[in-house]
Amino acid sequence: MFFSNMIGVDLGTDTLKLRDRSGEKFMENRDMIAVRDRKVLAIGNDAYEMYEKNPASVRVSRPMTGGVIASSSDMEHVLTYTLKKFTSFSQKTAGICIAVPSQVTPVEQRAFYNVCNTTLSPGRVHLVEKGIADAISIGLPVLGPEGHMIVNIGADTTEITVISDGKVVIGRTLKEGGFSLDDDIVTMIRRKFNISIGRKTAEQLKNNLAFMINGPRLEQKVFGIHTLSGLPKSDMIPALAVSVAVLSTIDRIVDEIRQVVDRTPPILRQDIMKEGIFLTGGVSLLQNLPIYIQKEVSLPVYHIQDPKHSTIRGLVTMINQKELHTLMRSPRR
Ligand SMILES: Nc1ncnc2c1ncn2[C@@H]1O[C@H](COP(=O)(O)OP(=O)(O)OP(=O)(O)O)[C@@H](O)[C@H]1O
Ligand SMILES: [Mg+2]
Repeated sequence: MFFSNMIGVDLGTDTLKLRDRSGEKFMENRDMIAVRDRKVLAIGNDAYEMYEKNPASVRVSRPMTGGVIASSSDMEHVLTYTLKKFTSFSQKTAGICIAVPSQVTPVEQRAFYNVCNTTLSPGRVHLVEKGIADAISIGLPVLGPEGHMIVNIGADTTEITVISDGKVVIGRTLKEGGFSLDDDIVTMIRRKFNISIGRKTAEQLKNNLAFMINGPRLEQKVFGIHTLSGLPKSDMIPALAVSVAVLSTIDRIVDEIRQVVDRTPPILRQDIMKEGIFLTGGVSLLQNLPIYIQKEVSLPVYHIQDPKHSTIRGLVTMINQKELHTLMRSPRR
């Protein structure tokens, strides 16, 4: 049967995640490509290794921006390579079920189909809104009339979704996430410590040190370039400085969550007030973030387990449950 050999694909801006129908075969790769003179040098984690070390003649970039495809040709290379690697030991891939932001335009949606159609025949690609996949991953009854709210803070998008009756009632895609927080840290280190660091170092500082409300007062040594002399410089960076640096971006995300709650129809808002908001995506691992959001929006906020993989887990559940297939979109021909 068609769905028996289907795989789930979460085309994250930071990492591409693939899982087969059994959920046992799993692959995760950075969504990156390194190119020189139109020749692909490296893809995935190998490309990420080259990031920020590459000479000017080598372009290392991400094919996705803000949850949508920024470069179709780069995305085709990355997806074709990853799918081939993933399916090399198994039988032919019958199709893929792919997660997309709820606010994709028809042109962006078409780009997803086109990119996938280079490796699969048309009609074998199904799209699912990220928020729906996330909700299914935690077993919410998405087909029922009650309202549910999911917030996925990923690398370059924050997806805020209100679901009822198997549909996205409100879908808001904010083009901010972990990368914006990394940029905040780069700026803070330049201004306060006169050190120029890369995004990779900033990401480590964020993941190891940042907290909301309160957290361990750790510090971490960073190496970079002194902004005035241009010479190598290192310094100890305290957790508090990193946490303060990310606060304004976190507050913008919280504001957006509050606005979506306010715009939710009263009957669904009542359900959400009872059930709470479910928080997922890699950035939800930031220490005490659920408690901070809970205080700010005055609603219970629950953390989804293993948040980087909730979307892909939801896709696998959808592939396996026939009654959920109606929630998959296929291209109109
Ligand atoms: N402990 C942590 N604290 C804060 N952020 C973290 C932590 N661990 C991972 N992250 C961040 O989570 C982000 C990756 O999350 P995720 O895998 O959900 O993103 P993605 O699916 O690739 O991106 P998107 O959904 O935006 O397209 C990165 O920015 C990463 O730095
Ligand atoms: Mg994601």
